Formats: sequence, C-alpha cells, structure tokens
Amino acid sequence: MSKVAVVGVGYVGLCTSAGLASLGHEVHSFDVITEKISNLQNGIVHIFEEGLADLVASGIQSGNLNFHNDLETALSFAEFVFLCVPTPQDEDGTADLQYVISAAQSVAKFAQPGAVVITKSTVPVGAAKKVKEALSREDLYVASNPEFLREGTALFDFYNPDRIVAGADDPVIAHKVADLYQNTSVPNLITSTASAELIKYAANAFLAIKLSFVNEIAAICEQSGADINDVTKGFGLDSRIGEKFLKAGPGWGGSCFPKDTRALLAISESYGVKSDLINSAVHSNEKTFDRIALRAEQLAGGSLHGKKIAAWGIAFKAGTDDIRESPAVVIINRLLDKGAEVVAYDPKAKLPAESQAVQVGTMAEAVADAEMLIVLTEWPEFITASSSNFLPAMKAKTVFDTRAILSSDWQNHASTFASVGSK
Ligand code: UGA
Repeated sequence: MSKVAVVGVGYVGLCTSAGLASLGHEVHSFDVITEKISNLQNGIVHIFEEGLADLVASGIQSGNLNFHNDLETALSFAEFVFLCVPTPQDEDGTADLQYVISAAQSVAKFAQPGAVVITKSTVPVGAAKKVKEALSREDLYVASNPEFLREGTALFDFYNPDRIVAGADDPVIAHKVADLYQNTSVPNLITSTASAELIKYAANAFLAIKLSFVNEIAAICEQSGADINDVTKGFGLDSRIGEKFLKAGPGWGGSCFPKDTRALLAISESYGVKSDLINSAVHSNEKTFDRIALRAEQLAGGSLHGKKIAAWGIAFKAGTDDIRESPAVVIINRLLDKGAEVVAYDPKAKLPAESQAVQVGTMAEAVADAEMLIVLTEWPEFITASSSNFLPAMKAKTVFDTRAILSSDWQNHASTFASVGSK
C-alpha cells in the first residue's frame, strides 16, 4: 500500500481521497480552505454525493484518511501527490491553469524526493509540461490520471470504472500510478501525458455530441410521430453504437460537458484545427433549450404570460445538488423570460440566489394551482409519483415531461400531456 497526498478536497479530490483510502492506501489530504478541512476532520462532508459521507467516516476511523491544514504535513512521506484543484474557464473557453500551477509550486517546496505529482483535474494538453516547469525539481515525476466519475454515481464509478488511464513520459511511472487502483480490476491504459490529457476531453466531448444527436432525433420524433425511446432502443441495440447515454432530455449541462467542450474547442483552435462537430454539438444544445421552452409555451396555449408553472427539478441531473450550467435552471429562466411565474421544487438543489422563480419544499406545493407542470430533472420521486396525488390540485392539467420519465397514468389523466421525443 502507498502513501498518497491529495491537494484539494473539492468533488474530485474528496472522492479520490476517500476511494483510495478505502483501497488501503494511507491518504493525507490538504486544502487551502481551512473550514473545509476542519469540517472534514470532524466527519462533516460539504458535498452531497451518495455514500461519500459514510466512506469518509470509515476512512477516518480506519486511520487511512487524514485531513490537514498544512501542506507540509500532508506531503511528508507521500510517494504520490494528486493535484485536484479547480480548472475554471477563462472568457475564451480555455481552462485556467493558475490553481494547478500554484499548487505545483507549493508542492515543490515540501514534496519528498522521487514523489510522483499527478494531475487529476481536467487539464489541457500540455499541462503536465507546465506542471513540471512549475515544480522545477529534477527529482520529482509528473503524471496525468484523468477521472471519469459522474456526479451522483461517483463512488460506483470509482469502484467500477471502464478503464484507468495513466499517462507519464516514463511508462514505469504511469504503471505505478495505475497500480494505485489495483483492487479495482479493470483495463489499464498506459499513455503519454498528452494522450491522457486529451482522452479526458475527447470522452466528454464525444458524450456531449452523442446527447446533442439524440436530442435532435427527439426533435424529429416530436414532429413525425416516432417515439424517441423506441428509436434510441432500436439503434442502441446495434452493438457498434451501444445503449448507454442515449436518453433525450432538456439539453445537457453540469460542471463538465459545457466547460470541457468549450475548452476542447479552444485547444483545437490553438493547434490550428477547426472542430466543426464539437461546435455544432454546443449550438445544437442551445437549440434544444429553445425547443423545450417553445414547446412549453405552445402547450400553455401560445402564451406563458402571468401563468403559474410548476417546475420539478433544479439540479442538472438526479443524484446531485449541483446547479452549475443546469438545463433545468436554463429552462426555468426561459419560462420566466416568457412571462411565466415559476414555482420550483427539487429534493436537493437550490435555485440560484438571483433567480426570479420561487422555490418550495414539496412537489405538492409546486403544483398547487399551477397551469402546467414541467419535469426537468429525473429524480426517482418524480418517476414514482402518481398523477392522482398531484393533478387534482392543478388549475389546468397540462404536463410536459422533458425527461420522459413519468408513468403512463399521467398521460391518461392529464388534459394535455407532452413528453420529450414524442408527439
Ligand atoms: C461527466 C462524465 O459523464 C464523467 O465521465 C466525467 O468524469 C465528468 O463529466 C467530469 O468530467 O468530471 P457528469 O457531469 O457528472 O459526468 O454528468 P453526466 O452524467 O455525464 O451528465 C451530463 C449531462 O448529460 C446532464 O445534464 C445529464 O442530464 C445529461 N444526460 C446524460 C442526458 O441528457 N442523457 C443521458 O443519457 C445522459
């Protein structure tokens, strides 16, 4: 088992810390935000992620998971140092490496000779070279080990990854990084740092393209009378395509796809490559938002002005309280722009502070006297909701399911019912 330090206990850093500790490694995690660390030392987890609080608690109890306010202590004896700091987006879409570089400069002061410094944050191609420069120590190694965790299922993904990608200019170092996950028997891909860095962007951009494609097919279904669930099932059964990640919705969002597609566009431009396909996927997603908002307006009889609309869902997807670039928030804003009064409910997420919509604490409060219910996030409690518990309280029984999750009894009892990807 190895001694591992993790710099940054945000979403990726904390899941990585707790996951590696559970595999038996001795993990010492550090963050510049002292409040986060003192909370974690007391077992208080600042992120909502299924199972994470329990995993952190058991890591602390076993002694494998430790949190520190000073970097020097976190780095003493560490053979591997994961950099899990944010890479926010600059105005032109490029990933801003300032936190990665300053973390590397700090790590250089205390890292043990021979330590491997690993970027886990999503970083542009070539970042490892900049990290090496920032470290400015010949006795340290640099590697890239992108994460593929999905919010809401991060721990499942940690223990059941499709692959481990480890990139380093010396394959021996890359193998050592991949071996940290030895208890999760999956294919290991050993690459250069540049390939590892690009794999992460390519994966997210491909998935975003896939979803834009599905949402365009959904738009055709809505006009032609075909049903998106049958269509995606039918083409997804082709093993060359695959059935996963084909669910039509109100558009894609979250903290990764929008940021990473824009960053990959900036990366491709910096290499003189014109990436029409990624560009189209981003535009297509905007059109999906437009289409959903327009359909809501049409369902409301042509105008949303002064109408109370109940919105179920604020989070960018189920299983998280994250609202970064949430399609639900985008659609709510568009409905507000069209003059609607939106009353929103979400089991975990909060509306942005500046939102003009009203947030309520139950699904029933949201629908009371509403003229339309729009379902925006695929939470399990929406999937199992029975129409008879909600439709009677509505003023007009119009329902728009943008995730195609409601049971057929809604279709049977609503006065007007529409689902994404069908007429
Ligand atoms: C995404 C990737 O799936 C992870 O592999 C990656 O590690 C992560 O980004 C990251 O870069 O950190 P995440 O942003 O948590 O994960 O969310 P996804 O589950 O991929 O969903 C992204 C968006 O696509 C959401 O708006 C979701 O509702 C939408 N989606 C997803 C669909 O509309 N249909 C689907 O079938 C799947």
